[in-house]
Amino acid sequence: DDFRDDLDALRNAVDTQDGHHLLGVFTRARVAREHFSKILARRAYVDAMHDNNDLIFLAQPGGRLSGRIRVPGDKSISHRSIMLGSLAEGTTEVEGFLEGEDALATLQAFRDMGVVIEGPQHGRVTIHGVGLHGLQPPPGPLYLGNSGTSMRLLSGLLAAQTFDTTLTGDASLSKRPMNRVAKPLREMGAVIETAAEGRPPMVIRGGQQLRGMSYEMPMASAQVKSCLLLAGLYAAGQTSVTEPAPTRDHTERMLRGFGYPVAVDGNVATVESGHKLSATHIEVPADISSAAFFLVAGSIAEGSELLLEHVGINPTRTGVIDILKLMGGDLTLENQREVGGEPVADIRVRSAKLKGIEIPQELVPLAIDEFPVLFVAAACAEGRTILRGAEELRVKESDRIQVMADGLVALGVKAEPTPDGIIIDGGPIGGGEVNSHGDHRIAMSFSVASLRASGAIRIHDCANVATSFPNFLGLAAQVGIRVSEEGKA
Ligand code: S3P
Repeated sequence: DDFRDDLDALRNAVDTQDGHHLLGVFTRARVAREHFSKILARRAYVDAMHDNNDLIFLAQPGGRLSGRIRVPGDKSISHRSIMLGSLAEGTTEVEGFLEGEDALATLQAFRDMGVVIEGPQHGRVTIHGVGLHGLQPPPGPLYLGNSGTSMRLLSGLLAAQTFDTTLTGDASLSKRPMNRVAKPLREMGAVIETAAEGRPPMVIRGGQQLRGMSYEMPMASAQVKSCLLLAGLYAAGQTSVTEPAPTRDHTERMLRGFGYPVAVDGNVATVESGHKLSATHIEVPADISSAAFFLVAGSIAEGSELLLEHVGINPTRTGVIDILKLMGGDLTLENQREVGGEPVADIRVRSAKLKGIEIPQELVPLAIDEFPVLFVAAACAEGRTILRGAEELRVKESDRIQVMADGLVALGVKAEPTPDGIIIDGGPIGGGEVNSHGDHRIAMSFSVASLRASGAIRIHDCANVATSFPNFLGLAAQVGIRVSEEGKA
């Protein structure tokens, strides 16, 4: 009977030339077919990089960079564009969307909750928003792959829905701490269960009326802040989040872009429920976290000059530029402009003699995703680089302090992990084998290290590069980094 009803509705849509309805049915149908066949085959969303169990990158030593490239769209902004576009009233157009697995996981989650989303096609996505109260119960658990951002941000807004949801992820995500969001959400009245020690899966019970609150975050985390602000869109009264140090503020900026008021006073961000999101146009800048690999590559490879176009330079993300400059890097920002509420620039990098530094504390949260590749810069610098106060690196997609230290040591670099950082003495880099432990940024960092290595570097477990930078190998080859999938030079 249901099937017949659906067919009647489809026939009616054809009769009345209801393009919107037809588009919804067929987009959902196509995507559902692809989604299920991938889940059944236990494959992730982006094919190319997932054919092998252990995808190995082979990076040949040496090289010099030149040219101009635009790296893919910002991951943080891409996630948020889908979330807020879905909850808005009206149709949101997104350009420059990152077609990486993490952002696609968020996109799929909203499709699973009934939102009609067209694309992505060449970075264009059209989201037919359903309003703050228009999400529908998903047919099963929401599978979020490798993406901590998806799980933490979604948990906030799902805690306020009328229906139950279960959030799951891959092996890496299943080890990451979720109590940092579950605990404050419970204080707001959410009912959430996790596996042992606050690990995923998260089971979120719907039908709770959340209460606004003031929360002082124990760690500097944009994911926790954003989670609570999203819950705050539904919670009675005001929700305020205080951060111990500035973290990326894309959620606050984008909420305002959708016409939702957010008050920011120093280190406190506040929302109150009762307003609505109105559809808008979003242009996603290139991801500075992806550009970072080329900023370091251009700095360490002698005789290089490279232009990175249209990079987001939101001041909560530019720690990598400041740190490289402190190390003696030659970086210039050109053509600075603002696009859709986010500052953007072209960044020119030329090779430079780097020197080791003590990384200033205040820059740590502003460069949190760029440390793996900054450790490579430190290995190429003269003297000692010391990082402290970065214990958060131990709970990223891998334990980035240990995994980077292990890899650098395997290549003959003197690198000593500490509980909250690392001490690296610059010196020669040899060839050898390293393991990225499925962490995209580790895999790309060791690809960059090859520019100064004396032998080839074999990097294991690289498939997850597709989570944030699906065309990394293509762009790397284009500018002169000699890394490719083993066997496919
Ligand atoms: C992100 C916040 C950061 C960052 C992650 C993306 C975001 O995580 O490492 O890649 O989009 O909000 P934390 O909030 O855990 O620091």
